Amino acid sequence: MRTILSLKNVHKTFEPGTINENHVLKGLSLDVMEGDFISVIGGNGAGKSTLMNVIAGVLQADMGQIVLEDTDITTQPVRKRSKKISRVFQDTKMGTASRMTIEQNLAIAMKRGQSRGLSWGVKEKNRTFYQEILKELDLGLENRLKTSVEFLSGGQRQALTLLMASLASPKLLLLDEHTAALDPKTSEMVMALTEKIVTQHHLTTIMITHNMENAIRYGNRLIMLQSGRVVVDIAGEEKKHLTVPQLMELFHQRSGEFMTSDSLILS
Ligand SMILES: Nc1ncnc2c1ncn2[C@@H]1O[C@H](COP(=O)(O)OP(=O)(O)O)[C@@H](O)[C@H]1O
Ligand SMILES: [Mg+2]
Repeated sequence: MRTILSLKNVHKTFEPGTINENHVLKGLSLDVMEGDFISVIGGNGAGKSTLMNVIAGVLQADMGQIVLEDTDITTQPVRKRSKKISRVFQDTKMGTASRMTIEQNLAIAMKRGQSRGLSWGVKEKNRTFYQEILKELDLGLENRLKTSVEFLSGGQRQALTLLMASLASPKLLLLDEHTAALDPKTSEMVMALTEKIVTQHHLTTIMITHNMENAIRYGNRLIMLQSGRVVVDIAGEEKKHLTVPQLMELFHQRSGEFMTSDSLILS
């Protein structure tokens, strides 16, 4: 198995040298293998989003090294990294261009995934393709190509964002609590769709979630962040047979905190 992403001894401190100094990532190391679908859990403020921001280049690591497919990207600007890294956020408005239509959004995503020379516009021959891929979402969006994205529900937007991410053929897909703003039923729908798209396109994926059931159910590997480090890393059969109580116990053992909120389990 090939390593897609490698973090070595990554540190990140916010507001260094001030009274608010916050050493969030404390020598975090992680190797992500090709085809890994990793769920990430950890308490509030554990540094989960910071980890993703450092990988995506939104934040620069203070120390350590980040390698993506044999390229050292530690200091690479976010724009350059975004060609290889797609992100989906909790805020359903962030992944799509609101004022543009569904087909225009898909055209932009297609262009991102392909080489130069392709014009931005929506080509007639692409419409059939858009309809085909939208149909697979099973949300009726294939009949709404010219609908402006602002009229879509949160769940429909996240589904479209995931589809767009897959069209861009990223080396790495980062999901930061991408179902947390959705109602439970819609969240389930988007999770099922996530799995389908990740599997179909063999996307190497890191997914932050608050939902421990989802963390266990989806993906081949689960990591837990605590105090800026990876404290649990479980994969394969061991992960598959994990239960929520076991995971909560593990969390307690490693962090000294309890994950008691019902929403963590039921949401
Ligand atoms: N840009 C920033 N500037 C200052 N502090 C930040 C910034 N981003 C995150 N933090 C702080 O770093 C800690 C970890 O945040 P975050 O990575 O968002 O946690 P979470 O695990 O909940 O996603 C928190 O205490 C947060 O307030
Ligand atoms: Mg976060």
